[in-house]
Formats: sequence, structure tokens, C-alpha cells
Amino acid sequence: MNLEINTGNEIEITEKDMIVSTTDKKGILIYANDIFCDIAGYKRSEVIGQPHNMIRHPQMPKVIFKLLWNRVLNGEVIYAFVKNLARNGDYYWVKAYVKPIIENGEVVKITSYRKPLNSFAKDYISKFYNTLLEYEKTHSVDESVQFVQKYLEDRDLTYDQFIDRLSLEKSVENIPIRNIDYNKEKNTHLIFKEYLNSCIKNGQIQELESKEHAVYKFKEIFEKMGNESFSNDEAWLRLIKTHSKFHSSVDKYIKKAKENESMSSFEKMTEDLSCDINNMFNDLTIIRDKY
Ligand SMILES: Cc1cc2nc3c(=O)[nH]c(=O)nc-3n(C[C@H](O)[C@H](O)[C@H](O)COP(=O)(O)O)c2cc1C
Repeated sequence: MNLEINTGNEIEITEKDMIVSTTDKKGILIYANDIFCDIAGYKRSEVIGQPHNMIRHPQMPKVIFKLLWNRVLNGEVIYAFVKNLARNGDYYWVKAYVKPIIENGEVVKITSYRKPLNSFAKDYISKFYNTLLEYEKTHSVDESVQFVQKYLEDRDLTYDQFIDRLSLEKSVENIPIRNIDYNKEKNTHLIFKEYLNSCIKNGQIQELESKEHAVYKFKEIFEKMGNESFSNDEAWLRLIKTHSKFHSSVDKYIKKAKENESMSSFEKMTEDLSCDINNMFNDLTIIRDKY
């Protein structure tokens, strides 16, 4: 490791570069390709037999390597964003795909394939890693693992989804839209539809206080999101429209039921409600995945 020289200059990796290295299961380098050696600034003979942390950058939080090792020693692959230190003190960012090689059920070696990291992910992850570095000054690695878990949970993302979204230059910060419990809300709407049906069949529609029902609370959630970054998106605007249509259908439905309409006249409306519920939740998923 070369902690003293840290120039602050970035080496840009190009798309055609694939930096590859292999270690044994203790992290000792047993293979490095030409690009690995060129970019890090070492001869192959200088890296083989050395621990992989020889290119560790001091601005890499410990927790990332902890997650990496946990996964690979468990026989699983992992993607990680890594800032590395070259011999001359320059740094370079990579997206690493780290894959254990398993023989007879045992991890025998591990290979990492690295490609460049887009600048959106680089900007985000540099700040995130700085937060982790600060945290690790006063906390253990295990606490740092918990910190990362909580950070991801708050965003309703798994580690892999977090990596995927940043790789696709998508935000990982639209918390309100991620906090919607999609299955619960969809079920609430479906149950409400069934409830309307059963009320009509039993002739109890008068007792229904629709405005207090949970599906109306959903409307409030939407209203609160009016100023979010996605609120001009086509799918979002369509969703708002479908949601109002859903409610006016429900109101119409209740009114007709109170007027003792025949059962057959409700059939079309029930179909429309199902269709609106599906469209609404499709749009909601589109927005969640896009932002
Ligand atoms: C296949 C493989 C590739 C690795 N690549 C890197 C790397 O590019 N940069 C790095 O700092 N650590 C890399 N590591 C992790 C190191 O082994 C080590 O855990 C890390 O540098 C932290 O050093 P430390 O454990 O001494 O704190 C890699 C590990 C494996 C198994």
C-alpha cells in the first residue's frame, strides 16, 4: 500500500478496458492481466504473490470489503464500486464483478472483472463512501454493516438493486415512492372492490362509509407527492387520472346501489374498477423503477 503518495489525479478507465485479477481464498494475487498491471503501474512480477490490498485506496470504507468477502466466501458473486490506488498515487474507479471459483463445493480462488464506472454512480458513491468512512472512525465494521443495511432498508433497496440503479444512472433517493407498500395498497383496492360487491349482494350498501376507507387514504399519499421530481412524468400523470376515475366510479357505484339498481348494471363497473386498479399499479411500478 502506498498511503503517502496520493496525488488526487484520476485515471479514466475506458469502456474497452477489462481489468482482471484472481486471488486465492486469502486474497493473495495469483493472476493479473496486462491492463491491471498497466493501470495500477506495476510489473506482473511485482503483484503476483502480494495481497490484493496493495492497491487499496484509503478512501475505501472497510464495510465494502467485508460485504465482498462475506459473499464470495459463501460461494456467491457480488458487484462492488471500488476506488483503487495506482503506484504513482493516482486513483481509478471501477465497477467490479467478483466471482468465486468453486471446486468440489469449495471456494478455491476468486476472480474480479472490472469495468469503468459512470460519473453519476461515481458522484453518488464518493459521497456515500465518505459518510461511511466518517462513521467507521468511531464504529466497528459490524456496526458499519448495520449502517449500510439500514441505509438500504430506508430506501427499500437491496444491495444489488442499489448497485443496479446507480449503474443505470437512476436515483436511489426517491424515498416517498419507494415507501409505498405496493402489495398492501393493491390488495386494499382489490379487497375494497370485493367488499363493494358483497355489500350489494347483501343489500348493506347504506352502511358503507367509503370516505373513511383506506383506499381514500391512498389519495392523500399521492397529494403529498405533488412536488416530487417524478410528478411531471407521463406515467405519474396517467396514474393520477386513473386514480380519480377509480374514485368517481366507486362513488357512482355506491350511489347506484343505494338507488337499488339491478345487479347486472354493476357488472361493467366492477370490470372497470379491476382494470383501473391494474393500470394504476402498473404505472406506479414504472415510476418506482424509473426514478
Ligand atoms: C478477487 C478479489 C479482487 C479484489 N480486488 C480489490 C481491489 O481491486 N481493490 C481493493 O482495494 N481490494 C480488492 N479486494 C479486497 C482485498 O482483498 C482486501 O480485502 C481489501 O483491499 C481491504 O484490505 P484489508 O482487508 O487489508 O483491509 C479484492 C478481493 C478479491 C477476492
